[in-house]
Amino acid sequence: MKEQLAKIRSEALAAMETAQSAAELETLRVQYLGKKGELTAVLKQMGRLSPEERPAMGQLANEVRAALEAALETTGKKLEAAALEARMKAEAVDVTIPGKPHKIGHKHPMYIALDEIKDIFIGMGFTVLDGPEVELATYNFDKLNAEEGHPSRDWSDTFYFDQDSRVMLRSQTSPMQVRAMETMELPIRIIAPGRVYRKDEVDATHSPMFHQVEGMVIDKGITMADLKGTLNTVMEQLYGKGTVTRFRPHHFPFTEPSCEMDVQCHKCGGKGCPTCKGEGWIEVLGAGMIHPNVLRMAGIDPNVYSGWAFGMGLERMAMRSFKIADLRLIFENDVRFLEQF
Ligand code: PHE
Repeated sequence: MKEQLAKIRSEALAAMETAQSAAELETLRVQYLGKKGELTAVLKQMGRLSPEERPAMGQLANEVRAALEAALETTGKKLEAAALEARMKAEAVDVTIPGKPHKIGHKHPMYIALDEIKDIFIGMGFTVLDGPEVELATYNFDKLNAEEGHPSRDWSDTFYFDQDSRVMLRSQTSPMQVRAMETMELPIRIIAPGRVYRKDEVDATHSPMFHQVEGMVIDKGITMADLKGTLNTVMEQLYGKGTVTRFRPHHFPFTEPSCEMDVQCHKCGGKGCPTCKGEGWIEVLGAGMIHPNVLRMAGIDPNVYSGWAFGMGLERMAMRSFKIADLRLIFENDVRFLEQF
């Protein structure tokens, strides 16, 4: 029995010390100390020993059991520590790895064009105004000399909020002319960029929402020559020195006389090409001398003051600058498109 115990001790200790996992260790525990374990089997034979032999053998058996239990505990702790170590290694965050760079936003091509236009006007002493997109018909039409029944007031063209057609999404930035006249000291030099809305179906050149830039000057002695001189200077700054322009008569209710301004096609020099659709000229804006009725309604004496105003479409400007063929690309905001500018 003594030899049996010694053999169990040496075998078990060797196995336990080299166990590679908690599961393996548990198997060893059961194998030696379990109910049907090897040591337990030896202990069960104690009864067959003589009373003289028993105490010494009992003590030896207890020592073996204690040794095995101690080995189980030591190896168990070692394995536990190793497992923790491994887990910490696996889950470690390396704070020295360079981070993923945040994507910084990209300026929209239309706002690149707008900033260029703003810079030019600010350089000439103009102030930039912002105004409401939900507008009163009073400002969008009445005070702009577009009386009841004017075709632009039609429900088929304009987004109204009420049955009486008094509150609407502004159809132009021109109400900012009146708002400036009513709130600013004379003389006035302003531009007012912003969104406008019209009931147009979406296609390559139309959108129910688009952007305009309004411009206005009011002072004593302002004439059509100021209008032409200023707008020619702006076009030269936008499209280069020597840019040729022309002014065609037109009609707007709030200007008299009214005109549209064309720029000679920079692509073909006026011969006609796809960029100018064979016309040689590209229409860029509507303008005119502010109608005396408009000045009068805003409390400005047309016998003392005069002024000019213009309104241009910003999308068209950007499409021309960046050679964008389809208006929809401007509003879809696909980064693959936007990042090209
Ligand atoms: N508001 C006009 C339009 O939308 C443009 C314009 C502005 C014309 C100012 C003359 C003066 O077509």
